[in-house]
Amino acid sequence: MVTGTCFADMGNNVTFIELEEKKVEKINNAMPPIHEERLDELLRKNMERIKATVDYDALENADIIFICVGTPSMEDGSIDLSYIKNTAEKIGEKLKGKWKTVVVKSTVTPGTTEGIVVPILEKISGKKAGRDFGAAMNPEFLREGKAVKDFMNPDRIVLGVMEKKSEKMLRKIYEPFHAPIFITKPSTAEMIKYASNALLATKISFSNEIGNLCKIMGIDTYEVMKAVGMDHRISPHFLNAGAGFGGSCFPKDLRAIVSMAKKKGYEMELLNSVMNVNEKQPLRMINLLEKHIGKLKEKRVAVLGLAFKKGTDDIRDSRAIVVIQELLKREAYVSAYDPLAMENMKKMFGGIEYCSTINDAIKNADACLIMTDWDEFSSINFSIMKKPVVIDGRRVVKDKRGIIYEGICW
Ligand SMILES: NC(=O)c1ccc[n+]([C@@H]2O[C@H](COP(=O)([O-])OP(=O)(O)OC[C@H]3O[C@@H](n4cnc5c(N)ncnc54)[C@H](O)[C@@H]3O)[C@@H](O)[C@H]2O)c1
Repeated sequence: MVTGTCFADMGNNVTFIELEEKKVEKINNAMPPIHEERLDELLRKNMERIKATVDYDALENADIIFICVGTPSMEDGSIDLSYIKNTAEKIGEKLKGKWKTVVVKSTVTPGTTEGIVVPILEKISGKKAGRDFGAAMNPEFLREGKAVKDFMNPDRIVLGVMEKKSEKMLRKIYEPFHAPIFITKPSTAEMIKYASNALLATKISFSNEIGNLCKIMGIDTYEVMKAVGMDHRISPHFLNAGAGFGGSCFPKDLRAIVSMAKKKGYEMELLNSVMNVNEKQPLRMINLLEKHIGKLKEKRVAVLGLAFKKGTDDIRDSRAIVVIQELLKREAYVSAYDPLAMENMKKMFGGIEYCSTINDAIKNADACLIMTDWDEFSSINFSIMKKPVVIDGRRVVKDKRGIIYEGICW
């Protein structure tokens, strides 16, 4: 959605091919099927250059085809490439007429573009990559919540290419973004994406580990990390301790690279630890909760924040999921609120109360857990709770007067 809309904003004609009719209809009515800052505005502005369809015949006039389908985890943590393979088959059937360059933008494990996508395209089309059509890998580094801004202002564009013609076409389409372009081979481009996400996730788990120790020792971890981040070799980003990382990328990408490494005979000890710290982190919220209100059975616990971060309605691998599961296991009543993500969470948990306001969620609650860093959680009137116990997983609460406040790492 973001890739296509932003390319349209740069003056390109964009056709979205999407399997879900409902999403196609929404896009054609200038309504984005996901929430992202400025996405609705950009979509509306560029509708004359945008259309959406379920029909792969629309590929006929394409010069560049970006594959942006999901690459979730399989049960064992390894990458599920079924959407990628399926898409490559469908594109293969339409590789006719003029030259087309097929670009894998989805996050895929190293070797996928050359070892899986290209062979499928060649087999189905009967054509040869490099001679009859182009193939490339172009990882995406945007952050959800700031996706449009990040796509429009990239730190770098990584292009994993196999021949000059595709490189030229991709350089041209990315020219208006005025970003450094890094040319490499597809498998390296694929690894760059995993290495970037793995390092960012490592920074978060590292900060959580330091934060956990700081809490025990009565040291303010945010003060510590502020000074740590002033070192230009480290940078101040991704150093905020809290309830851990979730989302559609870090958890599944870490699982994928660790699982791939294992299949290659290499155990990624550091990244396994990064995942372990992240799994345990949200459960600290439950321990802190029990410290204050005892057994959770039949207690009313408000969970504020269901999205994995602010600015999105995405709940994939959200830390709130782990916490709600644990609360339900301990037979607590859960009242939940999120400004954007409740509809998505309803598909996952039916047995909790979804409240349309913060006040409805916290009213008469025995305690409140803050799981997402929404700005509106900074100044809540907690006095309507039965007992104003607030466990903050994101360091958002500013006014702590009259409440029993405890931070996860502070
Ligand atoms: N979400 C992010 O912030 C982000 C950032 C960087 C990279 N990525 C990568 O981008 C990829 C997509 O991520 P996402 O979050 O947009 O996934 P998503 O699951 O939200 O969206 C993928 C879309 O592709 C559609 N689809 C599946 N198979 C299709 C097919 N054969 N033809 C047409 N449409 C098809 C699905 O219906 C869905 O709407 C993943 O590999 C992800 O790792 C995502």
